[in-house]
Amino acid sequence: MPLAQATVREITALRDRYPHPRSAILPCLWAVQNELGYLTAEGMAEVASILDLAPSEVQAVSTFYSMYFDHPEGDHHVIVCINVSCGLRGADEIVEHVERRLGCPSGGTTADRRFTWESTVECLGACGGAPAMQVDHHFHENLTPERVDAILERLGSQPRPGDGNGAIAAPGAPAAERIEAPDAEDRPTPKPRTARSAPRKRPRPDASDL
Ligand code: FES
Repeated sequence: MPLAQATVREITALRDRYPHPRSAILPCLWAVQNELGYLTAEGMAEVASILDLAPSEVQAVSTFYSMYFDHPEGDHHVIVCINVSCGLRGADEIVEHVERRLGCPSGGTTADRRFTWESTVECLGACGGAPAMQVDHHFHENLTPERVDAILERLGSQPRPGDGNGAIAAPGAPAAERIEAPDAEDRPTPKPRTARSAPRKRPRPDASDL
């Protein structure tokens, strides 16, 4: 199935942003994953065609990063950190709780395809709020089983992505944000990110410059 016109436009704009189209592979793959939920061979081939690259080059990049999915995942992607800081602050209990609550082991997807979850030994970079997890690229910190229940309950009761109101961020949103202060009474609310100014277009080098 061909990519949506909006995705093709996004990929084309990304291609034109960089001196060499190869530099746009990562954001282009995000665009495909945002539309489809994962990277299909057809989607990557379309990216390669627009960027004028070999399909194998695009596929090679996609397999290098764990954030890109090669098969359909649940509506929400949960990653529980079990690295040192989180481990010392009770990550094992959180992992056991998530596994019990969702009814599938790490790496699994719930029967209703609402959640895919995994534990990771890679530090999520939220050690100051350990134990921490990331849900759809948003950080949740100072976790307790009760906080996990509240987060999963809230997400599970929301409409599915594509159900019409766009309330849930599509899987694979490009930028991770820490949107939820763990102890709101103790910690200042993070400042919202400001929009980045549009990148300046740089002239493409032509062959005579090389
Ligand atoms: Fe878990 Fe760093 S150890 S966020």
